[in-house]
Amino acid sequence: MERTEMPKPQSLEDVIQALHRIFADDKVDVDEVQALLESYQSNSHEWLKYAKFDQYRYTRNLVDEGNGKFNLMILCWGEGHGSSIHDHADSHCFLKMLQGQLKETIFNWPGEGKKELTKKKETILQENQCTYINDSIGVHRVENVSHTEVAVSLHLYVPPFDSCHCFDERSGHKKKVRVTFTSKYGERVPLANAVSQENN
Ligand code: SIN
Repeated sequence: MERTEMPKPQSLEDVIQALHRIFADDKVDVDEVQALLESYQSNSHEWLKYAKFDQYRYTRNLVDEGNGKFNLMILCWGEGHGSSIHDHADSHCFLKMLQGQLKETIFNWPGEGKKELTKKKETILQENQCTYINDSIGVHRVENVSHTEVAVSLHLYVPPFDSCHCFDERSGHKKKVRVTFTSKYGERVPLANAVSQENN
């Protein structure tokens, strides 16, 4: 089917509106969404109100719930912060860099028996770049390896999910964890609800 050309978004608000249009029907055109996110030029004035940092772990900050079709969120990574190795609960995961750099390491799914996870690909994601993963590609870890710079990224999960699996790199052992938010729509959520077990 022919795709109508999307105008380049001039703001984060334009991105959100375009995502609502795209996901009005249930098909996901990965290339179209990736191109849209990549074409947005990050402007910190537009997303700073969502960027709530924590001293010890990366934070997940909900920006938009996409009428139940997707979750759009901003993740804030202090120096040295990283995620566990995790899957994406059968969802699409788009990651767009808003500030700084992140290292993404993709691993193959563990095979039968308890085995060390094998690395498939390692990428340093640069500002404004957008990458994509789903469970058929593998599982991944995302890290801010810088000791001096923070990083901020925009994540789109389609459909939204509230639990996924984390993996132990050496044994391949997996466990189910709940994922939570530090803030929603720019407001911090009460602390008891905010601790994500996906962080390590
Ligand atoms: C990711 O999967 O890209 C980052 C981890 C998260 O959503 O908490």
